[in-house]
Amino acid sequence: MSDERLIGEPLIEVRDLSVTYEARRGAFIKRTEFIRAVKRVSFMVRRGTTMGLVGESGSGKSTIGKAILRLAPIEAGSIKYDGNDLTKLDEKAFMPYRKRVQTIFQDPYASMNPRHSIASIVAEPLKVHAPEMSMQDREDRVAELLVKVGLPADSMNRYPHQFSGGQRQRICVARALSSKPEFIICDECVSALDVSVQAQIVNLLQDLQEELGITYLFIAHDLAVVEHICSDALVMELGEIVEQGPTDHLYHAPKHPYTQRLLEAVPKMPTIVGVG
Ligand SMILES: Nc1ncnc2c1ncn2[C@@H]1O[C@H](COP(=O)(O)OP(=O)(O)OP(=O)(O)O)[C@@H](O)[C@H]1O
Ligand SMILES: [Mg+2]
Repeated sequence: MSDERLIGEPLIEVRDLSVTYEARRGAFIKRTEFIRAVKRVSFMVRRGTTMGLVGESGSGKSTIGKAILRLAPIEAGSIKYDGNDLTKLDEKAFMPYRKRVQTIFQDPYASMNPRHSIASIVAEPLKVHAPEMSMQDREDRVAELLVKVGLPADSMNRYPHQFSGGQRQRICVARALSSKPEFIICDECVSALDVSVQAQIVNLLQDLQEELGITYLFIAHDLAVVEHICSDALVMELGEIVEQGPTDHLYHAPKHPYTQRLLEAVPKMPTIVGVG
């Protein structure tokens, strides 16, 4: 994983990124509609840090995450990762980045096959990225990852429905970690959890960052969580970044009227404190 000497160096530099989806609309007369989901967005994420990405529903947050993984139609701009422009690589050259970058989504249940055991789910990235690994080594690695995320190693032979929402999200964290990524996109990964469980997952992510030097892009609409976990944040409105900077500046002295409105819309939440 991350070399400690590189902590604080730029890992991702996004410049003038635009993403436009094409959608076929109309029940009888078909027409193509262009949805400009992301418009000329630029930002940088440093190694070993957590960048927040906030904005209302539909503002383009997930699209940015997908564009980094080349799962969204990039129209223009560049995404430099460790100095290489991901938008210019062919599929073969891009393959290693599928290992280096992982995503954790909001709904862990939806991203797991309910008929697969936890061992099989956590090992999914290993099967793709380390096919040479023996069954025994894979099992040892899964057991080690489960303990790392705070689940008993004997969870391996159980199935997703036998876990709570928070435990399922821990399983997703273990799965994301299995390919030893440097960068994890957390797309609303705590939004569906109770506040106390949110705090546990957030603390787990922070502990892993400290231990492994992982860099996060933390997408959320809950500003209280972003303030807690992120050193810097980006504020998106209608596909554009309207404000960015250190989170405490954004929260205590928001400059853009949209950031002020977002803050006013948030019910005052108790600050997340370290739980388990
Ligand atoms: N595959 C797609 N095809 C067409 N339009 C899409 C597609 N995915 C997203 N969009 C549109 O792009 C815009 C941005 O969507 P995106 O999912 O990035 O928003 P978001 O900020 O993540 O929202 P949310 O907070 O609800 O998750 C929206 O208008 C959405 O309808
Ligand atoms: Mg989204």
